[in-house]
Amino acid sequence: FQYWCGDLFLQARKTPKHLTFSGTTWTQEIVDMIQHNGDTEKCKRESTYKRHPFLEWFLAEQPAGLELAEAMPSPRTIKTHLPTQLLPPSFWEQNCKIIYVARNAKDNLVSYYHFHRMNKGLPDPGTWEEFVEKFMTGKVLWGSWYDHVKGWWKAKDKHRILYLFYEDMKENPKREIQKIAKFLEKDLSQEVLNKIVHNTSFEVMKENPMANYTKDFQGIMDHSISPFMRKGTVADWKNHFTVAQNEKFDEDYKKKMSDTSLVFRMEL
Ligand code: A3P
Repeated sequence: FQYWCGDLFLQARKTPKHLTFSGTTWTQEIVDMIQHNGDTEKCKRESTYKRHPFLEWFLAEQPAGLELAEAMPSPRTIKTHLPTQLLPPSFWEQNCKIIYVARNAKDNLVSYYHFHRMNKGLPDPGTWEEFVEKFMTGKVLWGSWYDHVKGWWKAKDKHRILYLFYEDMKENPKREIQKIAKFLEKDLSQEVLNKIVHNTSFEVMKENPMANYTKDFQGIMDHSISPFMRKGTVADWKNHFTVAQNEKFDEDYKKKMSDTSLVFRMEL
């Protein structure tokens, strides 16, 4: 895996690489809008998946993320969910810009559970109780949330990584969009900035077929089970966890997160 990716990404000079664990699609839209100076028509040129190839995504009957990435001129914006230890080494070697968006564990779990329910390309999540267990033991796709967020948190001290939090983005999207623009070395006028805030809001993106996954993966994602643009809020976990589940989760969380300075907000 590292071999062929290494080869590919030798060409990926100066690619602003975009990487997240939850809040990916939202950040992709923000990045695209920044790169196109708030031009909504240009940002509707293609669906999210085609604009920003998903590096490790491969499903029969769909163009593979890698193929799409290879066909793109540099500089490219690429999506991945890979943990640091699986990132192809050339990403580090080429000093790619990386945007990482982390979301608190409980909301991440809830969102991931519903996403598994609606996406036939992913394993069956089982019952809610079963999925909570799988999440806590890291037996989910892309591995342990705990190791993932901690790994990237550590990596940010040595590499060009902008580490963002979904909760901060919800609290003050304008401030966080400005951070992203600065990281991408783009100057935006107030007018463009406001336009980006508006067009990347949950409500507007939910209605945008180029950003809500209704154009991609037809027959694989079933939005009638649970729409991809589901709720887009902080603390929806409160509607899912029982008191006992919450206590058990918190206790385990403390242990798993005791060796990091990383702090998440579970509510605003
Ligand atoms: P919910 O399931 O909690 O609604 P990803 O893109 O990494 O797969 O993350 C999907 C989550 O991001 C979903 O969360 C989705 O609703 C949310 N999301 C997508 N666009 C958003 C936006 N513009 N504002 C807030 N949340 C957004």
